[in-house]
Amino acid sequence: MCGIVGYTGHRQAAPILLDGLSRLEYRGYDSAGLAVRNGKAATEIVKATGKLYHLADKTDQGRSLPDTCGIGHTRWATHGDPSIINAHPHVSGNSTGPGGGEGDSDVVGVHNGIIENYTELKEKLLRHGYQFYSDTDTEAAVKLVDYYYKKYQIGPVDAITRTMVRIRGSYALALMFRDYPEEIFVARKDSPLIIGTADDASYLASDAPAILKYTRQVYYIENLQVARISCGSVRFYDLNGDETSLPMTEITWDAAAAEKDGYEHFMLKEIHEQPTAVRDTLNSLLKDGRIDLSAAGLTDEMIRGLKQVEIVACGSAWHVGMAAQYVIEDLARIPVRVELASEFRYRSIPMAPDTLVIVISQSGETADSLAALRVARERGAQTLAIVNVVGSTIAREADHVLYTLAGPEIAVATTKAYSAQLIAMDVLAIQMALLRQTISQDEYVHLTEEMGTIPDKIRRVLEDKERLQWFSSKIANAHDIFFIGRGLDYAISLEGSLKMKEISYIHSEAYAAGELKHGTISLIEKNTLVIGILTQSQLFEKTISNMAECKSRGAYLMGITTNGNFAVEDSVSFTVYVPRTDEHFIPSLAVIPLQLLAYYTSVNRGLDVDKPRNLAKSVTVE
Ligand code: G6P
Repeated sequence: MCGIVGYTGHRQAAPILLDGLSRLEYRGYDSAGLAVRNGKAATEIVKATGKLYHLADKTDQGRSLPDTCGIGHTRWATHGDPSIINAHPHVSGNSTGPGGGEGDSDVVGVHNGIIENYTELKEKLLRHGYQFYSDTDTEAAVKLVDYYYKKYQIGPVDAITRTMVRIRGSYALALMFRDYPEEIFVARKDSPLIIGTADDASYLASDAPAILKYTRQVYYIENLQVARISCGSVRFYDLNGDETSLPMTEITWDAAAAEKDGYEHFMLKEIHEQPTAVRDTLNSLLKDGRIDLSAAGLTDEMIRGLKQVEIVACGSAWHVGMAAQYVIEDLARIPVRVELASEFRYRSIPMAPDTLVIVISQSGETADSLAALRVARERGAQTLAIVNVVGSTIAREADHVLYTLAGPEIAVATTKAYSAQLIAMDVLAIQMALLRQTISQDEYVHLTEEMGTIPDKIRRVLEDKERLQWFSSKIANAHDIFFIGRGLDYAISLEGSLKMKEISYIHSEAYAAGELKHGTISLIEKNTLVIGILTQSQLFEKTISNMAECKSRGAYLMGITTNGNFAVEDSVSFTVYVPRTDEHFIPSLAVIPLQLLAYYTSVNRGLDVDKPRNLAKSVTVE
């Protein structure tokens, strides 16, 4: 987590850095800081705790800082509390001054990641006379660069590569050296970083939306590489300090996609972008009406030969895996196991070459998912990444990649990326089923055509949003909410519950409906809200009975079901209907009211929907 940006050119750096940070705030928002410089003059550092607008206010939206080269940071605290002292940038000298102030240091830096051996490095540096002012791991890295720079009288690139050899952990580091005006040096290992160039300016950022407005020509710096960035040009070096080259890539994302576009929050905008995200993802995987996975390099032989599928992910992406498990098993008859990446990476699951490990990740940078991918590769499994961010680490390291086309997602709570992942997994399940002959040609055609109707059906669900807005005002003071369902409905319950708790801070749990009576039902009391998902016809009666059990203990019931199931209204107080479709694809529709309910509940409670407390969108720490 944490977001970093950098700019060197002929314009005032601070407003550009603040603008970039505003698009990275989803990565962390407990404090922020800037360092800017011009020529050999002292570097000016300004920091503020809390959200980014405090830093913007402190610098008159960046206008009070005239310099043309700078770096910036928005923080999600790992080491040290969210204070001015711990906010980045950090310096090689003894202090960044009260509230920032003038940096009297030779090296100034910002960092995203974790330096695992920082205590050891700190002890070494203390022995060499360095003093530490913060509790951060970053300060040790910046000081270590300074130490090598001075001890060996070497250039910045060599000082940085020596440091990289010494430090363990993950980092995207951006550093400025007093002796190298108008240049920024960066190093990367396992934390995202892109570098963009335009005519006479260069940019760096943790994620594309921060620089999309200025350039689309970018470089994805590789792991264990260093870059030397000057106005309009960039040079790359390997760990030996030897110059190396990298291809330039053109970003195709629309810059407008990273703007709010009149919506009150990014989350609401992204909820409404779901028909497009699903349609674009689907179209990218179809050719002349038939599924074509050749872009991902998945061959028919490989799919036919699979004996086991393991789906590994975190958060909502894991919920996509939970839904996909039912669909793949039902249609393609392949055993599927779904694992949390943070668990998978430390389990010694035996894996054969006929196992496909599917890693699902919006950002392509989640630390646990990346580690799980590496473990799977080491154990000899074939790997497929379902990723939204082009060029991200997971996308680059997996054997095969299937991109979702959700576009940039800014709100911390995912919506459109989740929906794009769901449809991508449905496509995969259908293709697996066809190749393994567990469905007929007619079924294949029917399923493929039915998938094509999903974007429009999502649009229809969105039209019902006013009722959900009304209902959310009734539940805004709830203490607990339970989401229940069976089978695919259970998978949707998991996502509905997560959405609710992460942005409304109301305690919620998702339960497999049949499991309630084994403990959780003891928590049901008068007026506890229980939301039942009732879209799977075979399981409908069972879940309705479980809801009745809750009602008889005082619960207040809401149901989500498909059009025509009007009998639900006999049992529950508030019902939401979604259009009918093949039941395998229902999660794509039933999740929409749950997203809207969470969204409006958060708004009704006056919370910061797009940046919920303690969370970050891209979790690049363990
Ligand atoms: C964070 C986000 C979630 C996301 C999860 C996995 O917790 O808040 O929305 O589902 O990370 O992220 P990924 O980028 O790997 O999909």
